[in-house]
Amino acid sequence: MNPYEIIEKYYIPGSDLYNILVKHSEAVRDKALALARRHPELGLDLEFIAEAAMLHDIGILETDAPGIKCFGTHRYIEHGYLGAEMMRREGLHRHALVCERHTGTGLRLADIIARDLPVPHRELSPVTLEEQLICYADKFFSKTRLDTEDSYERVEKKMQKWGEESVKQLRHWREKFE
Ligand SMILES: [Fe+2]
Repeated sequence: MNPYEIIEKYYIPGSDLYNILVKHSEAVRDKALALARRHPELGLDLEFIAEAAMLHDIGILETDAPGIKCFGTHRYIEHGYLGAEMMRREGLHRHALVCERHTGTGLRLADIIARDLPVPHRELSPVTLEEQLICYADKFFSKTRLDTEDSYERVEKKMQKWGEESVKQLRHWREKFE
């Protein structure tokens, strides 16, 4: 499967939004693959990581985030499950799970309810190693500073807004994947 062909069904090649999505996703893919290659003992599926990392944010176009050229109607935090719905329509059920499980360090059902988040009421935390690795790699790249990889310290600071459990999860992944 060629993830660029899927992206180009929804995004106009050469548009600002296409360039933001593709550049960000390539950075996430390359970091995830580099980490995966350092850990052959984990037996990660590299082909799947490359595809799913490219598609993890495909739902952003349905959100209202003009700063990154998204002019949809949904809140930005919804882009994960919205992308998952798109991937399921493409028959890509395994990739869909990466989309809906990559926000923050994952969204726990209890937090979704407690914070009244506008996402489906189910566990949206990464489960498989591939889902975890893509979620982790994603945290190092914003869509507004496309040329920069954040330091681990900066990422940890950003995660504090999600609560102490998220910071713990991030540290755990750092041990496992770095
Ligand atoms: Fe992302």
